[in-house]
Amino acid sequence: MRIKTSPWITVSQEPGDVCPVFRKQFATDRKIAKAELEITALGVYEACLNGQRVSDFVLAPGWTSYDHRLQVQTYDVTLLLQAENELRVTVGRGWFRSPMPGWMDSADKQRRYAQPCGLIASLKIGYADGTEETVQTDVSWQWAESPVHFSEIYDGERADARVVPGNWQPVKPLDWSKEILIPQEGEAIRETERVAVKQILHTPAGETVIDFGQEVTGYVEFTINAKAGDTVSFTHAEVLDKDGNFYNENYRSAKALVEYTCKEGKQTWHPQLTFFGFRYIKLLSWPGEPRAEDFTAIVVHSDMKRTGWLKSANAELNRLFSNIVWGQRGNFLDVPTDCPQRDERLGWTGDAEVFIKTASYLFDTERFFKKWLHDMAADQRKSGEIGQVIPDVMPEGDSSAAWGDAATICPWQVYQTYGDASVLEDQFDCMRKWVDYITGVTTTPNLWTDHFHFGDWLGLDAPSGSYKGSSREGFIASAFYAHSTELVVKAGKRLGKDVSSYEKLYGEIVAAFRKAFPEYQTQTEHVLAVHFGLAEDPQKTADALAEMVRHDGVQLRTGFVGTPFILHALSNYGHADLAWSLVLRREYPGWLYPVTKGATTIWEHWDGIHKDGTFWSKDMNSFNHYAYGAVADWIFEQAAGIRHDEAHPGFSELIYAPHPDERLGWLQARLDTRHGTVSALWTCEKDGVRYELETPVRTKVCLNGEARWVNPGKYTFWTAE
Ligand code: BGC
Repeated sequence: MRIKTSPWITVSQEPGDVCPVFRKQFATDRKIAKAELEITALGVYEACLNGQRVSDFVLAPGWTSYDHRLQVQTYDVTLLLQAENELRVTVGRGWFRSPMPGWMDSADKQRRYAQPCGLIASLKIGYADGTEETVQTDVSWQWAESPVHFSEIYDGERADARVVPGNWQPVKPLDWSKEILIPQEGEAIRETERVAVKQILHTPAGETVIDFGQEVTGYVEFTINAKAGDTVSFTHAEVLDKDGNFYNENYRSAKALVEYTCKEGKQTWHPQLTFFGFRYIKLLSWPGEPRAEDFTAIVVHSDMKRTGWLKSANAELNRLFSNIVWGQRGNFLDVPTDCPQRDERLGWTGDAEVFIKTASYLFDTERFFKKWLHDMAADQRKSGEIGQVIPDVMPEGDSSAAWGDAATICPWQVYQTYGDASVLEDQFDCMRKWVDYITGVTTTPNLWTDHFHFGDWLGLDAPSGSYKGSSREGFIASAFYAHSTELVVKAGKRLGKDVSSYEKLYGEIVAAFRKAFPEYQTQTEHVLAVHFGLAEDPQKTADALAEMVRHDGVQLRTGFVGTPFILHALSNYGHADLAWSLVLRREYPGWLYPVTKGATTIWEHWDGIHKDGTFWSKDMNSFNHYAYGAVADWIFEQAAGIRHDEAHPGFSELIYAPHPDERLGWLQARLDTRHGTVSALWTCEKDGVRYELETPVRTKVCLNGEARWVNPGKYTFWTAE
């Protein structure tokens, strides 16, 4: 990359909270054929050439494991150049210098917070006469205070529109690694939708609250005709309390505050160097009467292509599908995060592991995950341990089973959904080292015991006062140890590597597991034993699981670990009707309960809002936590019936085995795969079920207890009552 020959630059004095703007003025005197800007920053930047943004990429350079990897963006700026030019770049703290994670203090956090702001760029101008010129960051640049006086990830942004950058100062060279510079790997982050105001509310507490009708991640743009010095300020929330008042105590320490001082006249503004997760804003200051048309919520996320759609005869189920999609849009902002609003917004590995299959069906996430997995490999500790979050901004935290196993599960899923083994090639060492780490750290050979774990996080069978479900931690950890080892074997074989030692280890883990855990005590334990192929008699175990679910009142008792797999474990062994009962349940705990309470995204807790309108405790109650949206992979694969076997990754060959349910009426699924579009619809009619399938590949159709192969094409099938 050309940019590596440019020096890093920084400000000459510490600007405190103020975001500096850097500038370079230069002239061109000939006709330009092509001009290309390579640029990145320590922080997040917005670059403008002659007053125009150089790209629609927002929050660049995105979030990577900055100690090892920093993405460089390349923009074609040919059309923006003139004879006299000015390139200006405003740099905010972004993820690089924000105090993350917000709720705890750590030496590493302080270290990162104290890092300098930096900029590096190289603009190559190719003239029509064949000559070339490069404008690069160097000490000829200048910096000044920008109108943005504060900006960071959790607390929000403060700007003063009256500020016209002046008092330009010389910059300083900055001694910073260029080894870390890599070309852009992930999807660009863009503004993907504008959401209009649904209503302006005047709450019982006397607040003016603006409701966008949908929880989104991004920021609010407003337009105002004001006097210089007038102020606008607002804060954000996901929900209203039971009395209809503004509520954001669940943001914990994240202030999520916007403060803006107006210049004279009509102006439109939005934060540009941070983001918020919200449905509502509360106006703390607004000159005059707010009007709905003055506000727009701008949706921001990694610009992934949509690939999966679900639709049914049930309006609440359709709302659930929509909530799952919004959950993904709200949390796939360069890194798969747990939530977009409170003082976390971190790349929790367990959450990604739970949701990745659904995510990869709804959107094309191949690029997104490959980039994040590269960060995981970069952040993997010497011992092979994987941090709780990637990028690993909590290096002092222990890894946990099911969280660290994202190291094997995520690359395998990306390979399975898209069929390109390069992700396995890239990640194989990281996968293998994770398994080696467990082998090295456990105190019981072939099982994983005596270690910190999150257990079946938020399990519904958790003892009172605990976030961890009742499933045994050693059981969960050992089951995932087996599963990860199995995936290392599969990945290694696909890559033609010698994995005989892992094959042997896998056999030993399974044997030790069966010996140590002859009985299963909870729903999640049953689920893992079936789904990971550890139960000696999977049919008997699935039957016992079904019995247990019925005994529990046809209710889930699972948490993060069991929930994504329970429906598969049931329907793969003849209990699809029960799986459907769980999916269609409208009472707590069930996927439709939040829908009945007006949810527009997926909640962290099934009962984030209780029946009586009160909340789960404020310390852990996100209303945009995608994990339980994992149900959608079951809807695609089992309910609609579109899947593939492991020997045909990327849907190069299809298995069509739907599980219709009369309670639903009809269900339609569409999936854009690497081999073309699959669409499947079933409709329950008076005397049977009608199926319409359009498949781009050879397909094994499993209906009426029989299997038969069909070629690519459009088909109608029928099963009689
Ligand atoms: C996050 C979770 C995460 C968990 C670890 C929480 O604070 O929001 O989604 O996986 O911590 O148990």
